[in-house]
Formats: sequence, structure tokens, C-alpha cells
Amino acid sequence: MGKKLTNRLNDLTSSEWLYWTDTLYITNYPPDATHYLRKAHGAMKPPELMADIIKFFTKKGETVLDPFAGVGGTLLGAALTDRKALGIELNPEWVKVYQEICRTFKVREGILERRGDFDQSPPDIFPEMVLGDCFEIFPTLADGSLDAVITDPPYGCQHKISGFKSETNFNMFNLQESKDLANAADFPAFLELMKKVGQEVWRVLKSKRYFVMILGDRYRDGEYIPLGYLVSQVMQEVGFKFKGLRIWCNKATQRPLKPYAIMTSFVPNITHQNILILRKE
Ligand SMILES: C[S@@+](CC[C@H](N)C(=O)[O-])C[C@H]1O[C@@H](n2cnc3c(N)ncnc32)[C@H](O)[C@@H]1O
Repeated sequence: MGKKLTNRLNDLTSSEWLYWTDTLYITNYPPDATHYLRKAHGAMKPPELMADIIKFFTKKGETVLDPFAGVGGTLLGAALTDRKALGIELNPEWVKVYQEICRTFKVREGILERRGDFDQSPPDIFPEMVLGDCFEIFPTLADGSLDAVITDPPYGCQHKISGFKSETNFNMFNLQESKDLANAADFPAFLELMKKVGQEVWRVLKSKRYFVMILGDRYRDGEYIPLGYLVSQVMQEVGFKFKGLRIWCNKATQRPLKPYAIMTSFVPNITHQNILILRKE
């Protein structure tokens, strides 16, 4: 009789584990009930996707950090899977959207359901999202205190911050702008900032646990920028072992292909994102 394997990482069966290792990760998630609030953020991720990733890299009750939390895809994924989580987000508009979801939704049988107007039940306790610059919040987190860091960082450089709708928030624009990783001066500067993120993640993550990042590649000024590859190289400099990736594509929200340089030269329609899997070994 073979020795019974103990699952040291998650609560999956061996077949569930096996199927999750397919490098092609094609999903077809339709918009969930919170989508009408989350869609204000142009780069939000489906809570179902985040729940699926969280289920692989943690056990029930463990704690996940998302230092670039947006409108809360990862935190909602944690709520769906009975994990604890902490999110950090720079833009107050996105924190407000997340708080509105926490106030008006509940988790029932693994899905997010809108609370009825006359629902008297106590509100669900959702994971906390802290407003601030992750570089200022990281030092408040203890060494080796987290079971996984799962995030979707801003990718690129010289983006404009969107989402500041009110006058007060608009006045904060300059302050926030300089801290938003999407506004790095160029890709080398972005990679330097990502290295700083990696160093902080290395410190707060438990040994043998995972840092998972969703990152799209870019095409800019006629150049293909393999951002997933570049960031994984930087993280190896920090000390992480690059364990591989999954190529993710959500069919349900795929944009129509654009006719870039047809009959002239190959220009890709980038319809996938890289899910980089790094381990603190
Ligand atoms: C790609 S989005 C994350 C979206 C998220 N996964 C969701 O489902 O909504 C990246 C987020 O990082 C935030 N961000 C950028 N620089 C930051 C910083 N220095 N500290 C914390 N958050 C930051 C941006 O405001 C943006 O919302």
C-alpha cells in the first residue's frame, strides 16, 4: 500500500491539484452580482478567479495579502473561500467601491448575493481594505506573518490615475499620482519599484509559501514588452524561486481583436495575462 500523502499547501484533492497545474487557464466567468459596482475600475479581476487561486495557495482560515487591492477582487475571493485577507489600495475611490460592496452584499453558499432592502440579518464581516501607499503600510506588517501574497499590480508606466470623481479627491491627485506604480517614469523605473515590492513581500511572507502575481505583457511603440518575464527576473534577484506560470484568459470579457498592421507586420492582440507563481524557498 502506498503511503498516504499529506497536503501541505491547500485543501484540494490530488485530482483537483493535478487539474489546477494546467498552464492554460481559460475561464468563462460572466459578470457576478457585484460587477456593476466593480466595473468602475478598468483592471478589476473576477472574485471567482481570485477565489480559485486562493484555494490553491492556502488552506481554509489562512491569511492572504493583496497590496494592490483595487475594488477588492482578491478580498472578495477570500470571503468566498473562508480565508482571511488584508488589502492595501492607494485610491480612495476604489476603497469606497469595496466598502459599498461590503455594506450591500453577503456571501451565501459560495456566491456574493445582494442584501435585500429589508434584510435584518447582521452584515457579513468582509476582509479589511486599508487606504494608503503599500510602501507605507508594509512596515506595519510583521515578518513571516502571511500565508500567501496574491495580487494584480498596476503594470506599465505613465498611466493616468482614473477614478477621482469628486473635487476633494481631485486635489489629492498630485499626491497620489507620484505614489501610483502605474505612473513610473519608464519600464526600468517600474521594475525597480516592483523589486522594492518583492523585498517587502519576501519579508512578510512565511517560508515555503507563494507570491502570485497577475501581469499582462505590453506592446508599446512597436516593441513587445514581456512584462511577466521581466518581473519574474526581478523577483528572482530578490530571492524568490520562479516556479512557473499559468496563462489566463477570461473568454467572457475578451475584447474583439483589433486589426493592427494587417498585411504589414505581426503585431499581437494580447488577450492573455500571466499568472506568475513565485515561492519563498
Ligand atoms: C490592477 S489594479 C488591481 C485590481 C484588483 N485586482 C481588483 O480586482 O480590483 C492595481 C491597483 O493598485 C493600486 N496602486 C497603485 N500604486 C499603489 C501603491 N503604491 N500602493 C497601493 N496601491 C497602489 C491602483 O490604484 C490600482 O487600483
